This record gives sequence, C-alpha cells and structure tokens, in this order.
Amino acid sequence: MKLKITILPGDGVGPEVTAEAVRVLQTVAGFAGHDFQFQEKRFGGAAYRASGNPLPADTLDACLQSQAVLLGAVGGPDFDELPRHLRPESGLLQLRMALGGYANLRPALSYKSIADCSPLQPAIADGADILVVRELLGGLYFSEDRGFSEDGSSAFNTMRYSVEEIERIAHVGFREARRRRRKLTSVDKANVLETSQLWRSVVTRVAREYPEVKLEHMYVDSCAMHLVNDPRRFDVILTENLFGDILSDESAVITGSLGMLASATIGGTVNLYEPVHGSAPDIAGRGIANPLGAIASAALLLRYSAGLEQEARDVEFAIHSVLEAGYRTADLARGRSRIDLVSTVQMGMQVEKVVADILDSRHAYHAV
Ligand code: IPM
Ligand code: MN
Repeated sequence: MKLKITILPGDGVGPEVTAEAVRVLQTVAGFAGHDFQFQEKRFGGAAYRASGNPLPADTLDACLQSQAVLLGAVGGPDFDELPRHLRPESGLLQLRMALGGYANLRPALSYKSIADCSPLQPAIADGADILVVRELLGGLYFSEDRGFSEDGSSAFNTMRYSVEEIERIAHVGFREARRRRRKLTSVDKANVLETSQLWRSVVTRVAREYPEVKLEHMYVDSCAMHLVNDPRRFDVILTENLFGDILSDESAVITGSLGMLASATIGGTVNLYEPVHGSAPDIAGRGIANPLGAIASAALLLRYSAGLEQEARDVEFAIHSVLEAGYRTADLARGRSRIDLVSTVQMGMQVEKVVADILDSRHAYHAV
C-alpha cells in the first residue's frame, strides 16, 4: 500500500514529538511491506518566521495532495503580538478548514500504570475511557461576524450552527458510540443558547437512527463537573467546537498527562492527526517532551487513513506496555521518586522496539 503522509512538525516540542511518531510509522511500514512516503513542510510559527505566512501555499498544496497529515503543535510566546491572521493558530484553523475535516476525535483513556499521575484519586480516574467528538469547523471559531468596535471598547464573536453541520457531526458521534459502549452524552448549553437548542433537537432526531445507542443530554457546566467527579460515567461526549476544546483538555489531564492524548480529524478530503497538547514552549528543545500523544496520533492515522486496524492496535498496545514497564517522560513523573525517567527519543525508541517485536513475531508466525 502506498500512502503519502505530510508531516508538519510546527513549533515548540512539535518537531521532537513528530519525529518519534514518524519513527514508529516507518517501523510499521517496513514490517507490513507498505510504502509510506513522508514529506515534511514548514507550518505555524516556523513557517511564519521563514516566509511571513503560517500556512504557506506549498505546505497547503502538499497536505491536499497527501492521504494524511500528521501535525506536531503550533504557537508560542514569540507570536503573541502578531495580528490574528498571521498567528500560528490561524494557520492551523485555515488548514483545518481547507482539509475539510469537521469531526475531531479525541480519545482519553486512563492507564492503570500511570494512574498515580492523574490529578484525581486513582480510584476515580482508573478505567476512564472517553471519546470526545468535537465539531471542528463551526461555532465561535469560524464565525465571520466578529471583531472589535471602532474605538476598541468592545469586541464580539458569533456562535452559529446550521442543521446540516449538527447532523453530520452527530452521525459521527453515534457511529463511534456504536463501536464502543453505546452511550452518547451530547453536551450543550440549551438553557441559554439558541445554537444549543438547535443542537439538542437535531441530535435527538439523529439518535432515532441509532436505537442501540443510549443518548443523554447534558449542560456543559454540569459535564465539566461530572468529568472530575466520575469520569467513568462517560463513553462518547458529542459537542460543539469551543465546548469540545475545553472539555477535551479536561478529559485528557484526567488520564495523567495532556502529553498522552491523540486526535484525529476526519470527514474531509484529507484526515489530520495531531496530539491534543500544545507547543509547550517552556520545555521545547530539551528533549523531554512526551511523544506518546504524537505516537498515539500515528496509531489513529494507521486506523483511519491506512486501514491498518491491527497495526493501530499494536502501536496502542506498545504505548500501554512501555508505561507498564515503568518508562516515563518528565510530565509523568509527578510524585514518584523511583521511576525510569526517559527522554523523548528514548520513549519513542522503546515504543518502536515493542512494535517491532510484535510485528516480528506475527510475521514469523505467518511464515511458518
Ligand atoms: C486544540 C488547540 C487549538 C484549538 C488552537 C491551537 C487553535 O487548542 O487543538 O485544541 O483551539 O482548536
Ligand atoms: Mn485546545
């Protein structure tokens, strides 16, 4: 199988963590006899520095001509003063719009082996397994109706959703729930917002097509509370763009570290894979960032873009087993004195080794 993958390392720790994800993808491709072609392009602040544009035309072209895009992270304090359209974040939003993926899947799985890193008591966090399905191209992020008043004394954004936008993301949410534990929590603020009232009625209607999935509606404030109170009560959380941004960070940290979490953006012409964490400028360049979120994003790439479900599971299993074996990057060191502290590269190599072992033994088995 031939797969063109564009790598956008981006800013901060982005280049460090994407290098480890690519390492693992290369190993998978080597064993499975697939031809993964990687091309790396400048993006975000790095691209702005080089060309004055966070999303240069040749970067966008490369993305549009590939089958999948793997992104590190964008942003950093150097770019805080730039006008909005030149900021690295704006490059990311333009890229998302251009690729067309409206469904952002953010799985948050708590691992027993790092339950001590969760800010929640292990007894509460352990076993949490949540999928946030975030609408990614609508709402406040992309409203045209936005700006500052002339004298700068006020500013405004507009939240707008169409029935069609809600329907298509709802279908993704229900389909994912059907493959999981068949429970979907639709999160809104229908006691205050018209967009949420529309959201609720459309989701309720779409739910009739998925009778096997149990639907509940929840206000966003209540969801934020339940997430820390009893995260295990959730299976799929379906929500709009900004609520999903906030709730996915919250669900992520419950698992132990934001650095663990992956995301896949699907539904458009080219799927986009990125860890949920940001560019972490405070630790960039020190080789200590956690690459597992980027590697888990590579696993999602194998699942959703390469159709390699077994290999995706192998990579996820490898992540699980290196944590079991006690390897931890600095973000997972909270409150522990006797651990095997490893660098970004060492962590990536550990995962690669386990993946190679699994693939090797499967290969040997088939060869017999
Ligand atoms: C995320 C990030 C982005 C978002 C930023 C960098 C624009 O926080 O992917 O969650 O808000 O969507
Ligand atoms: Mn975010």
